[in-house]
Amino acid sequence: MIQKLDFAEPFFQAEYVEAEPAYPVRERCLILNLAGRSESPVRIGTFLLESFCSAVVTGANLEIPGQALVIRNFGSFSVEDGRTAKRMKQTWKSLWEYSRQERNRNVPYYKSPRAVVGGRIGMNFCLAEADAPSAIHREHGEDFDEIHLQVCGTGRVQIFQDSDPGTLCGELPLCPGTANGRIWDERGEYPWHRYHSCSRSVFVVIEKNRGGKA
Ligand SMILES: [Fe+2]
Repeated sequence: MIQKLDFAEPFFQAEYVEAEPAYPVRERCLILNLAGRSESPVRIGTFLLESFCSAVVTGANLEIPGQALVIRNFGSFSVEDGRTAKRMKQTWKSLWEYSRQERNRNVPYYKSPRAVVGGRIGMNFCLAEADAPSAIHREHGEDFDEIHLQVCGTGRVQIFQDSDPGTLCGELPLCPGTANGRIWDERGEYPWHRYHSCSRSVFVVIEKNRGGKA
């Protein structure tokens, strides 16, 4: 099943793919395996893409037994261009408008509408200005697996020992096409963490409701 997603239009052409034994890719695209650890990996030619791992793919036939997000026009434009970033800011709501949470009041993040696919996977694109940290948090309000998929520019997910920026203890660098993978522990609990852009960046936040499944 291939479902075209318009939530990031007119900027990004995304597709949600589920149980497709032959999914052809010609142009350069970005794929993120959304399947759980217990499900079969995505097969790209002779290599396997494991749960919550991403790859940039060109000219290949993919076998997608579980679920995947594909960004079809990956790399086709850059947010270094101020006009593109301006258009995104005019199209998407600021994080503050979106959430009305005090912690987000002055965060220069702009979120696309949210898409929900496969019944329990929510996602939205986000534009972040350069060197802009989000708020440090550990709770999400809902029980989900959270992954950041970098699309344009660079950033990192930062891990802290406490809610204080001075307790930084780990960083997961993100360049276009990479995803941060699991940061939760065996009980599903998160460390204190935040996304922090390096350059102006666009990333996708994926929230896969756990719904009792791994
Ligand atoms: Fe988070």
